[in-house]
Amino acid sequence: MRDRVLSGMRPTGKVHLGNYLGALDNWVKLQEEYDCFYFVANWHALTDDYSHAAEIPENTVEMMADWLAVGLSPERSTLFVQSLVPEHAELHLLFSMVVPVAWLERVPTYKEQIDQLGLQSPSYGLLGYPLLQAADILIYKPRYVPVGADQLPHIELTREVARRFNNAFGPVFPEPDAKLTEIPKVPGTDGRKMSKSYGNAIYLSDPPEVLIPKIKTMITDPARKRRSDPGNPEICPVFDLHKIFTPEGPREGCAVGCRTAGIGCLDCKDVLLEHLRPPLGAIRERRQKFIEKPQEIIEILNEGSKKARMVARATLEEVRRAVGLEL
Ligand code: TRP
Ligand code: SF4
Repeated sequence: MRDRVLSGMRPTGKVHLGNYLGALDNWVKLQEEYDCFYFVANWHALTDDYSHAAEIPENTVEMMADWLAVGLSPERSTLFVQSLVPEHAELHLLFSMVVPVAWLERVPTYKEQIDQLGLQSPSYGLLGYPLLQAADILIYKPRYVPVGADQLPHIELTREVARRFNNAFGPVFPEPDAKLTEIPKVPGTDGRKMSKSYGNAIYLSDPPEVLIPKIKTMITDPARKRRSDPGNPEICPVFDLHKIFTPEGPREGCAVGCRTAGIGCLDCKDVLLEHLRPPLGAIRERRQKFIEKPQEIIEILNEGSKKARMVARATLEEVRRAVGLEL
């Protein structure tokens, strides 16, 4: 039996390079070694702003087209939708009985969300976000949860919830470990961290006529106002992308050209595009095949959710027995 891995992503729609290099690429690799469960956290998408609820189905299909295009495969992993496994909600309810409110109030993402979104009266669901996440995870008893560093407090809480439950009702849940993803720095076109909400993202689905101008207008080292001004690749966001996509030889050529003003930024960006376009083009081609058949995507998710549900049901039977809810 292979160790199990579980992770989830909120359905925000099309996947950008930051999501891909920060998470999905790693999920794909984990498929080789682990029994992987990956899900669409559509309930979590409602916790901060439910006014966009109607977009969730379309966003789910768009995101799945990207998942499949980069190599997540229903033959190798269980790909499913949170709300199609309602046992997550039942476990969340039972956890809510044993977890103090104060544990949730001190989770850093809670305060951050309130500040960032300027929420006057945060919902019960927002407070419960990390507890729902604990239920998402523990219900599958995974060994590892691959996440970015921002999610570490949630994994720590998950472990505390497991201990608290086990102490109260008996040893049901093993404590999973976070599996931290080595994330390269992926800047957006304006030099800030790539994010959908900043409007600076490069999407896996961008066709060349969108991708090329995004790169050509991307922020560079501001010291290079004129072609004759030398620059510093180490502070240039374009060069961060070179580090990910361009092999060392041509990349070093660009670095030297930059420092000596031997090349212009547009030359440098052309070299980047030469190495960025083939891998992105290949993903985009595969993506188009999937997005043409949304019905097949939905079928994959329905099948995966049935498989996930069998595991979730077995855990819930154990949980109900442990708590004493069986008649
Ligand atoms: N909170 C995670 C995020 O924003 C998404 C998520 C929900 C998740 N449930 C999970 C991740 C369970 C890992 C495991 O990225
Ligand atoms: Fe950035 Fe390249 Fe321009 Fe240097 S030459 S500032 S690395 S884009």
